[in-house]
Amino acid sequence: MKNDVLEKPLSTEKDLDEIISRPSEQLVELVAGLGGDFAVTGIAGKMGVNLGAMLVRALKKAGVKGTVYGVSRFSDPAMMEITAECGVTPVKCDLLDCGSVEKLPDAGNVVFMAGRKFGTDSDPELTWALNTIVPSNICRRYPSSRIVAYSTGCVYGFSRPGFESTELDIPSPIGDYAQSALGRERIFAHYAKTSGTKVSLIRLNYANDLRYGVIRDLIEKIERGEVVDLNNGNVNLIWQGDAIRYSLLAFGIVSSPASILNVTGTETVSVRCLAEEIGRLLGRKPVFGGDESPEAYLSNAAKSFGLFGYPEIPLELMIKWTVAWSKSGGRSLNKPTHFQTRNGSY
Ligand SMILES: NC(=O)c1ccc[n+]([C@@H]2O[C@H](COP(=O)([O-])OP(=O)(O)OC[C@H]3O[C@@H](n4cnc5c(N)ncnc54)[C@H](OP(=O)(O)O)[C@@H]3O)[C@@H](O)[C@H]2O)c1
Repeated sequence: MKNDVLEKPLSTEKDLDEIISRPSEQLVELVAGLGGDFAVTGIAGKMGVNLGAMLVRALKKAGVKGTVYGVSRFSDPAMMEITAECGVTPVKCDLLDCGSVEKLPDAGNVVFMAGRKFGTDSDPELTWALNTIVPSNICRRYPSSRIVAYSTGCVYGFSRPGFESTELDIPSPIGDYAQSALGRERIFAHYAKTSGTKVSLIRLNYANDLRYGVIRDLIEKIERGEVVDLNNGNVNLIWQGDAIRYSLLAFGIVSSPASILNVTGTETVSVRCLAEEIGRLLGRKPVFGGDESPEAYLSNAAKSFGLFGYPEIPLELMIKWTVAWSKSGGRSLNKPTHFQTRNGSY
């Protein structure tokens, strides 16, 4: 990304969304060659609208015709309007309902984003249904499409800094959410094998927007004088725009059997150091609790860097931007990541 962008103050959501959804030249080239329409299923969450907007902008820049459909229940009806404002065509659908899924518009390219994490402890059955039956519905509806499916780095067990999990490691998920997320992957991989559907599975670790993410969580804790729990002593983060860009570039590596791609930032970050830096910028001393455990959910994203280059927005800038955004009263989604959770309980 050019310097003018890096120096631009991020004072409005319009500026923020514009930067997050700006497509790279590499993505524009890829989209030009894909052809066909796109269905973004589960668009109405924290990442989907930015992803849909990036696709619309990439198609426009490539001079290629194509519709981007944004499929969700639109539990928050305002999200339907916001989706449409980006040039995405909203389609209201409960993806658990096979009859409704059958009626979804054709699309040669599908991004799968639906999922359930929070609330799993009180209704694990629903989490399993959403994370496994919905992928099956989508694979049956779109057997000949390319599918990029979001997953999570939580499908791995814990690893140590310096020995972060790679795509070659055997998954070892902890708790119903992570296990059902592996179930989601297995369903996509099954259809990739049996129907020849070309799939790429994206194991993402913590997208960071200014309105949510690990940095925003820490800012809010430090500002409220709450204890920053160090038990989960290290994390991986990536700028939301970079996470979306890598995921869309994965349309270039969809395959049967399914390919797997870790998506996260370049460094493993110490939560203590991150909190201290945020505290310095806020002028407040963080209060720490607990001891750093030697292991955490950590992924090595070297494969994505080799394929698509390094992230455009570095960690230092994410910290500066998020602190400035919060200080000036920038909106929070009030959706904490719960990155401190280590027992798989959500
Ligand atoms: N954000 C991260 O840092 C992160 C990290 C690791 C993995 N991931 C994974 O990446 C994906 C996208 O992330 P996200 O943060 O945007 O997720 P999110 O905020 O949970 O959004 C997913 C959206 O899917 C929609 N959905 C759920 N069930 C549905 C159903 N039955 N039918 C139709 N739509 C349904 C929901 O919107 P409606 O209620 O309107 O339908 C929901 O807001 C998720 O699968 C998530 O698990 C994200």
